[in-house]
Amino acid sequence: MKARVESKAEEFIRLHKRFIMPSTMVSYPLVASEAHGSIVKDVNGKAYIDFSSAVAVANIGHSHPKVVQAVKEQAERLIHFAGNDFYNELQPKLAQKLVSITPGNSAKKVFFSNSGAESVECAFKLARWHKRRPGMISFLGAFHGRTFGALSLSACKPAHKAFFHPLVPYVVHVPYPYCYRCSFGLQYPECGLQCVSYLEDVVMESYPMEDFAGLIVEPIQGEAGYIVPPDEFMPRLEKACREHGLLLIVDEVQTGVGRTGRMFACEHYGVEPDILCLSKALAAGLPMGATVARAEVADWQEGAHSNTFGGNLLACAAALANIEVIEEEKLWERAAHLGEHALKRLRELMEESRIVGDVRGKGLMIGVELVRDKTTRARAIKETEQVTVEAFKRGLILLPVGHNCIRVAPPLNIPNDLLDRGLDILVEAVKVVEKGV
Ligand SMILES: Cc1ncc(COP(=O)(O)O)c(C=O)c1O
Repeated sequence: MKARVESKAEEFIRLHKRFIMPSTMVSYPLVASEAHGSIVKDVNGKAYIDFSSAVAVANIGHSHPKVVQAVKEQAERLIHFAGNDFYNELQPKLAQKLVSITPGNSAKKVFFSNSGAESVECAFKLARWHKRRPGMISFLGAFHGRTFGALSLSACKPAHKAFFHPLVPYVVHVPYPYCYRCSFGLQYPECGLQCVSYLEDVVMESYPMEDFAGLIVEPIQGEAGYIVPPDEFMPRLEKACREHGLLLIVDEVQTGVGRTGRMFACEHYGVEPDILCLSKALAAGLPMGATVARAEVADWQEGAHSNTFGGNLLACAAALANIEVIEEEKLWERAAHLGEHALKRLRELMEESRIVGDVRGKGLMIGVELVRDKTTRARAIKETEQVTVEAFKRGLILLPVGHNCIRVAPPLNIPNDLLDRGLDILVEAVKVVEKGV
């Protein structure tokens, strides 16, 4: 009998399992080898349409030629020269650009880091430093990262926090407007946003707000399931923060850089954060975090916060090229336009399907929530995984999000025909799976 030959992908997966810590949950048997635009190829040579943008990172597609060129040129000149002890040309150039494109006209300052969690960590520390107060308000379902500070602000999945207590103290989590599963059992708009009233009238009246530094919020919740709040939510939070002297910290790590149909999701709501957290798509795949704060808030003393690699020159070069591409091609407008098309197709699927309970999104940040029963809204957890598996077999990468949702988040410059081909596969995958429910 012939022994089965291990495929290249199987070989790398075996090595991964042997040498890499198991704390990161890998959802896919995909061993990526190369990726261009919206197509990823695995080591076995099979091509896939990427509806994940490698988790909302590849907003301008993978290995964009202008980013590759900028990184090559910078690498040949200077890769790293400690931004914490010396000056360089690119950090201030990028900071100036970020200050000019982020919401709000007031003077702002930027701190560079390497990830979303670090950009939140900086925001948290800055809020405490500036206000000299310990407390923070955050939301149930929030995901802000895995470092101790960012994790303390998060309340997404139990596995993220198990055995890590005690976390950073004095974080109060309040309900987010997840209208499909309202914490108060109410219906929007008749509810009058009871979740915000609860924050304003109960939480803010029960805790001493003079002990609180700020409130942190995702303008669309990401890891909880791509949850889009009603339009009044963000402005009401801003007002409540101003009334109680809290800093408004907006985490746009996932929503930022064109993803939701605006350069930043705050722009949909006319809200100006005191501190804005960015990462993921900022440097088109190179690690970068940026915390942008009003200059008046960013008044901490030298030595209060720093790092080695934040604002690394390759990442700065990539971010500048990335922003140039997004601006030149007005990719946020393309995201808005393609998003409307995708939402329409997915809502048609929802009408026909027994397991698609909700479809929501802005731009190309779309969540499809699967249920076992549309009346009880019981979460279709197993089926969600099955849909991603069926899509994968057919050449589409679909990442699950939350407990029972699928994210539709392709690159913002995905060609129209590829978007439709991917949506066809998604529809087919849902139909195959629902037969078994
Ligand atoms: C809104 C938000 N904030 C923070 C983070 C953490 O980013 P990172 O994984 O780069 O630390 C994420 C990651 O998914 C995120 O979606």
